[in-house]
Amino acid sequence: APVAVLLGGNSAEREVSLQSGGTVIAALETLGCQVRPVDPADADWIAQLEGAGFVFNALHGPGGEDGVMQGALASLGLKYSGSSVLGSALAMDKQRSKQLWQGIGLSTGGFELLAADTDWAAVIARLGKVFVKPACEGSSIGMAPAANAAELEAAYRKAAAYGAVVLAEQFIDGPEYTVAILGDTALPSIRMETDNEFYDYEAKYLSDATRYHCPSDLGAADEAEAAALSLAAFRSLGCAVWGRVDLMRDRDGRFYVLEVNTIPGMTSHSLVPIAAKAAGMDIAALVRRILELSWD
Ligand code: DAL
Ligand code: MG
Repeated sequence: APVAVLLGGNSAEREVSLQSGGTVIAALETLGCQVRPVDPADADWIAQLEGAGFVFNALHGPGGEDGVMQGALASLGLKYSGSSVLGSALAMDKQRSKQLWQGIGLSTGGFELLAADTDWAAVIARLGKVFVKPACEGSSIGMAPAANAAELEAAYRKAAAYGAVVLAEQFIDGPEYTVAILGDTALPSIRMETDNEFYDYEAKYLSDATRYHCPSDLGAADEAEAAALSLAAFRSLGCAVWGRVDLMRDRDGRFYVLEVNTIPGMTSHSLVPIAAKAAGMDIAALVRRILELSWD
């Protein structure tokens, strides 16, 4: 039976997903699979899944990565890649992710929810410089830094265009790392370095100037700490199979979990393929492993 690959979709990350799906399709073809691309933006996408033996989900963002598609696929009796409904839904929601981590004492930056009537200056007084983000988006879409009340209000308006829930998260002054998860294993960490103000959409997908350091600059003990923190963050949300945990590290060497991605990007600029390569796995081996782990 063919493997259906879900790609595209209707979220703000549609273009990213088309690229991720393209990578997955090419990998499955080198593995000898019969592949059927399916785009949920097509009216008859459910009919296109008919007869598929497995669904590889390469959708990003709401509707594809947030549990909605996972529930639909489960209802259709189809086996699919990655996390199930609960882990997908929690990981897409940065507010609930962070509240859960705070509840179990896992290191994550302080945050507040913003609304149109927020006292902007009071938030800055409490948190200092912040990053403002829509609670349920990916790829840094709708994100902006803010260091004063005027910037905070402008950043809120920008983020609110992507959803009603917007958070202001304490700025962590230090490098950004990411840890890919494959089954029970954390792959080698990557440190991202950009000349942009932060690792934004441009730095992620368009720029050829972004540097990816893998292995990163962490010594063995810090690498082990990043791996343990990432696995704990991933598991605490009920995530499984594969994903990627984004971290900041402050100048004192303390790590903070930013978020978990349950369907990480697989574009030519993306991070999980870089980490897999450092672990001795090419993209075909990575995709095969995701299939195996999803099947179990
Ligand atoms: N949301 C993008 C695809 C990522 O996390 O890689
Ligand atoms: Mg994300």
